[in-house]
Amino acid sequence: MKIGMLTSGGDCQALNAAMRGVVKTLANNVDDLTIYGFSNGYQGLIYGKYRILTKADFSGILTVGGTILGSSRTPFKQIREPGEDGVDKVHAMKSNYEKLGLDCLVILGGNGTQKTANLLREEGLNVIHLPKTIDNDIYGTDVTFGFYSAIDIACHSIDCIHTTAASHNRVFIVEVMGHKVGWLTLYAGVGSGADIILIPEIPYDIDKVIAGIKKRQESGKNFTILAVAEGAISKEDAKLSKKELKKKIAKSPYPSVSYKIAHEIEEACGVEARVTVPGHMQRGGAPDAYDRILCTRLGAAAGQAIIDKDYGNMIGMVNGETKRIPLEKCAGKLKSVDPKGKMVREIKALGISFGD
Ligand code: F6P
Repeated sequence: MKIGMLTSGGDCQALNAAMRGVVKTLANNVDDLTIYGFSNGYQGLIYGKYRILTKADFSGILTVGGTILGSSRTPFKQIREPGEDGVDKVHAMKSNYEKLGLDCLVILGGNGTQKTANLLREEGLNVIHLPKTIDNDIYGTDVTFGFYSAIDIACHSIDCIHTTAASHNRVFIVEVMGHKVGWLTLYAGVGSGADIILIPEIPYDIDKVIAGIKKRQESGKNFTILAVAEGAISKEDAKLSKKELKKKIAKSPYPSVSYKIAHEIEEACGVEARVTVPGHMQRGGAPDAYDRILCTRLGAAAGQAIIDKDYGNMIGMVNGETKRIPLEKCAGKLKSVDPKGKMVREIKALGISFGD
């Protein structure tokens, strides 16, 4: 059996753990297994850059962050456009797959990666997708790997900010990753006791945010911590078209939404407001125990799907069980936080503000 493997898009914790799960399962159940590890995501498949890996390469990597294959972004939007060198990317990927005589390609990645995986399926390749991203925004699976490890890091950042915020009577904003969705900010904010949580799914009203801070000041709390998603958006901006918003952001003097909010808070509340951006740390380091277990299970289930020759699926986790989800049903869909969902209602009941 010949299996190709690649990791594409922004990395995260537990990519290695997931690949280990696939390879160990196959090695344990299949004779004559060859693994082709493509370098740096789809780029390796396009340009035929790979190395042959053995079971030993996947040993000892359960706890290792990053990816032993390397990763890069190959935007789905440009997948049908020839590269600067004129290469037809889809044709090149198909041709390398066929030249090597692969039985299946295991693709680990987020939303964009998944769309390309689905395109390759439509082009006749056997693919299995594993849902990776700290953003937890992949439709069809309850959880993506990287998410819980990133929550720990974001939580730890906010924990550290707590003590210094209290010492200095300051307002602190911790800007959390998550791209267009607020899962990571919501979970990190709740896990670290943030006072105000701003996520893209619930556009904020700056006056409500300020009122929340003033209310805390009046009750004798000398500091406030906001967990703000990098994609957080004001009610006013949420009304703009994509084009208008892009134009507005391009003209903004602030590096990100958090700095704008900090400025508005300083003006209105007469306190110092500071911004902390943990950034890519949230994707780094070792996977937590949850992700190690999740990836071992997803990897084993992916291995089994390959053994069963049941291709064209994402292997997700649904209600605590691994599940094969057809790519045509999930590719191109985004999983967002439900602003009226139970979790948001529970958190609001505690008195935590979403600025709405
Ligand atoms: O999708 C993962 C993610 O870390 C997002 O949360 C973030 O918006 C983006 O990637 C950052 O991308 P890059 O690593 O290309 O700066």
